[in-house]
Amino acid sequence: MSTLLIYYSEDEQIRDLCKNTYGHNTDTFEIREYFDRSPAYVKTIGSYLAITGKNTAIEKNKPDLQQYDTIIIASPIWAQNPAPAVNAFLRANNLKSKEVIGLLFSGGGSLAFANDVLRKRILLAGGICKSVVTIPKKSLIENNMSVVSLALQKAA
Ligand SMILES: Cc1cc2nc3c(=O)[nH]c(=O)nc-3n(C[C@H](O)[C@H](O)[C@H](O)COP(=O)(O)O)c2cc1C
Repeated sequence: MSTLLIYYSEDEQIRDLCKNTYGHNTDTFEIREYFDRSPAYVKTIGSYLAITGKNTAIEKNKPDLQQYDTIIIASPIWAQNPAPAVNAFLRANNLKSKEVIGLLFSGGGSLAFANDVLRKRILLAGGICKSVVTIPKKSLIENNMSVVSLALQKAA
């Protein structure tokens, strides 16, 4: 079984864990904002775009999803919602007939709303949403485990 981890994060430690995730037949794809964003921008405009469910400009390259059986799409929670870059990705890519697991990185706040929103966006992109799981940033970093193994374990 081949798995693709598609991730977005503004956090360097999380990005490193995603980039270096290991596992049999596992690849990664990073969603990148087209413009560099300052922490102040993320806190203000980033939160506003997240709350209103909007996109931000992302780089145009796309992964070849056909090669994979399972897609994991990972986003931080911003103001109780998935990040705008992940919205942009889900609106620009067709996940038709793909089994998709949503993965949310949280700061420890309430999760149910973001969980629901990500599930709906995965379905709107055509994916078959197997599950949406949340991992608090703290336990992700303390565990130092493969992000893909953790997500698959939680989704099982
Ligand atoms: C603008 C902003 C808003 C956030 N809002 C929430 C929130 O509503 N709930 C929560 O649990 N964590 C929240 N967090 C924490 C992040 O979800 C958490 O730190 C995540 O693991 C890493 O986020 P990052 O990739 O944007 O750095 C927020 C972080 C940022 C930067």
